[in-house]
Amino acid sequence: MQVTISDAVKYIGVDDLTIDLFESQYEVEEGISYNSYLILDEKTCLMDTVDVRGMEEWEENLERELNGRKLDYLVIHHLEPDHAGSIGRLLEIHPEVTLVGNAKTFQMLPQFFDVEPSQEKVTVKEGDTLSLGSHTLTFVMAPMVHWPEVMVSYESTEKLLFSADGFGTFGALSKRGLDDWACEARRYYFNIVGKYGNPVQALLKKAANLDIAMICPLHGPMLKEDLPYYIGLYDTWSKYEPEDKGVFVAYASIHGNTAAAARMFAEQLKEAGEEKVAVADLSRDDMSEAIEDAFRYDRMVLFAASYDGGVFLPMENFLVKLTSKTYQNRKVAVVENGSWAPSAAKKMKEYLSAMKNVEIMEDTVTIKSTLKEDTKEALKQLASKVVG
Ligand code: FEO
Repeated sequence: MQVTISDAVKYIGVDDLTIDLFESQYEVEEGISYNSYLILDEKTCLMDTVDVRGMEEWEENLERELNGRKLDYLVIHHLEPDHAGSIGRLLEIHPEVTLVGNAKTFQMLPQFFDVEPSQEKVTVKEGDTLSLGSHTLTFVMAPMVHWPEVMVSYESTEKLLFSADGFGTFGALSKRGLDDWACEARRYYFNIVGKYGNPVQALLKKAANLDIAMICPLHGPMLKEDLPYYIGLYDTWSKYEPEDKGVFVAYASIHGNTAAAARMFAEQLKEAGEEKVAVADLSRDDMSEAIEDAFRYDRMVLFAASYDGGVFLPMENFLVKLTSKTYQNRKVAVVENGSWAPSAAKKMKEYLSAMKNVEIMEDTVTIKSTLKEDTKEALKQLASKVVG
């Protein structure tokens, strides 16, 4: 994929269009890109490598752009294998390179690769700079903006922020541009970085002091127009604030009766005046989209069948994931179904009550097997309370 950044800064990353599941868990119908950049100045500086899945193509890109020059530096912003996976190969083909990382980077690096003690290394910390000639990098530590060793760097001549996983999206560059960037960026953020809202906030505060012309993430498109829009979304997401007013209805139904109730409830919400209602079948729809929608909206209503004295497992799986991603600051109602001993509501509330600042609405509705007039009316009442 040819991407132009500037005369001196080359994109040498690759698209992965054949991966089945990113991180062995996320469906990526439009693939994913592993971004890698090369700065050509008096010194040459590589900004991250790529996953081994794209190593051959990346190596060709690297050598084409180096055009016979030696490689002076590799900046390791993040050691996760989707970016650092080709460091071993790089050390074979460019043993002359000096590795640039922070103390944590070099503590963890030998866990992934055998690095000769003689390998040149520069250990950087917050605010350190590296001059490449007319370009200068300043390093900004971003611990737990996914992993503890993460750092970003700012190039002050062209005003580029190399943001590691920050501002990354699913979707290969050849498949997705900036149209509807938020859709896949949001799914990426809440599923991959979502647990780390406070570290993202810390990074955004540091970035606010930088004059940024372009953000160069490790996945997805580079961002250069409307930067306040992208940064504003990251600010909202990392504060765990709802992005939109709306209701997410998520259901886990065994034989379809709970599903029918959830779908009817979605219509009742709309009749009661709710403009944005999203519905997901947790047994069949993409779980990462469900996580995304849970965070996107300010209210959520959970419908689940009872199962083995607890809650039907697709709902339990969803609640486990929401807990892992530190879901918080939302209003939630629960609706259970049970044919002889309804147990789903109790279990759902156990999860929800352990979350931070999640208000569980008092009006729990219990359906006995199928909807009847009384439960239709109870759901209608609940809809009107959820709409408020
Ligand atoms: Fe894209 Fe945390 O790796």
